[in-house]
Amino acid sequence: MKKTLLIGNWKMNPRTLREAMDLFNATAKGVENVKGTEVVLCPPFVFLPYIRKTKYRVRLGGQNAFWMKSGAFTGEVSPSMLRSLGCSYVIVGHSERKKYLGETLSMINKKVLAVLDEKLIPVVCIGEREKNSGNARQEVLYQMEEIFDHVKITSASNVVVVYEPEWAISTWSKGISATPEYTANVIEWMRESLGKIFGPRIGNEIRILYGGSVNSTNVRDFMEKGGVQGALVGSASLHAKEFIRLVKHSVI
Ligand code: PGA
Repeated sequence: MKKTLLIGNWKMNPRTLREAMDLFNATAKGVENVKGTEVVLCPPFVFLPYIRKTKYRVRLGGQNAFWMKSGAFTGEVSPSMLRSLGCSYVIVGHSERKKYLGETLSMINKKVLAVLDEKLIPVVCIGEREKNSGNARQEVLYQMEEIFDHVKITSASNVVVVYEPEWAISTWSKGISATPEYTANVIEWMRESLGKIFGPRIGNEIRILYGGSVNSTNVRDFMEKGGVQGALVGSASLHAKEFIRLVKHSVI
């Protein structure tokens, strides 16, 4: 059984390098001795060189990567660049990139393949746009088929999937998450579909996390009733004390 995975996605925060260093050091130190979990922090790219030589056990991740290795792609960052800065994970296809930057499923698919090719772990975000639309199942399954096209069975067990219903992200939902029961339902479809794409054994090995207004008071419910193996955490990861509490409470 793989360890519980907690990923802090700082998004475009904090505002300065000093604040980023303080947040990183306080968080990394606070989760150092929590057993049974793997903690990954994903700061903005520009802060990575300053925190990469961490003496703590937290792992680092990028918030995005481009699908080419190098070349004339202004503003983009490749998986190998992230690797050279000590990253082992890369978030791919976050809903905010779809919403603000027009990222499509075929772009996300190319990114997943490029990240795996670099032996990094893609953290792939999948989820429906609207609450109670009635077609969440079809939406989620369609996204999975497109995003995992051409992913080899041999590398698939390294993939991490995040069920991230866009309507439950704290910026829009005012902190109201999906319920663990609702989540459990979707996770069941996701497992079924991963099984169809990669075969049942690999389908069961892939870690599925939940993302959307997770905090220290609801994380355990997601783990116990939501059927997930961890969480992708946005706003709660910007406060070291809250994130440390969240990591501690996630241990079942
Ligand atoms: P949130 O972000 O924890 O602030 O809701 C989660 C996400 O963006 O997936």
